[in-house]
Amino acid sequence: MPLIAGNWKMHKTGSQAVEAAHELKSRIASAQNVEVMVAPTFTALFQVAQILKGSNIAVGGQNLHWEHQGAYTGEISAEMLTDAGCSHVIIGHSERRQYFGETDETVNKKIKAALNSHLIPFFCIGESESERESGNTFSVLDKQVRDGLNGFTFDGQANLVVAYEPVWAIGTGKTASREQAQEAHQFIRGLLENLFGKAFASAVRILYGGSVKPDNVKALMEMPDVDGALVGGASLDPETFSKLVFFDN
Ligand code: PGA
Repeated sequence: MPLIAGNWKMHKTGSQAVEAAHELKSRIASAQNVEVMVAPTFTALFQVAQILKGSNIAVGGQNLHWEHQGAYTGEISAEMLTDAGCSHVIIGHSERRQYFGETDETVNKKIKAALNSHLIPFFCIGESESERESGNTFSVLDKQVRDGLNGFTFDGQANLVVAYEPVWAIGTGKTASREQAQEAHQFIRGLLENLFGKAFASAVRILYGGSVKPDNVKALMEMPDVDGALVGGASLDPETFSKLVFFDN
């Protein structure tokens, strides 16, 4: 089943998030055969999760810390996320890698913490523009996947979501072509098969992220290895996001 996820990033106050959650809930109440998740900012998580409880929309955090608790000012634990109503968490987003010192090693620890708390991680990977231009896309993805998932074993259960988000396509309006997305997704799935076996590789969902909009979502979703989308800008407006959920331009 495809998975359409909205990352609200550092947008929306509590009341704005509440309003968006109510509107989204009614707009996509009839959506079937699609899974939906939204990731509000921390201060809005609890309220949004209360509104969406029992609906067809799951709630996720945008980050977490790998420790359970302690003197880590400004951080939030997996348990705090589940307690606030989250079932998912975004890990290793390129903005965190770029601005907040996230590395493959911290991503690895965070995925472990999420899985231990039964949160489904959205494991984000993707190459920069210069890495693509220098022909290093696959080696960058290879390293991010191997290091991010180092030490794990996975069975056939799809308790991890991978989000392929080419950095040059995030928030730029420059979407990867569907062929570029398919090529990267196929590579990632092949690598996951080598590392964890066929059952896991076919069950795991690989989302595309980077300037997904109502007018390009359908074409991307038609590609065999694109199992959904992680959406930033176009997830903020409930009307636009609901179009994505229905693959409707
Ligand atoms: P965008 O962001 O849709 O605004 O390009 C995608 C993301 O950061 O997940």
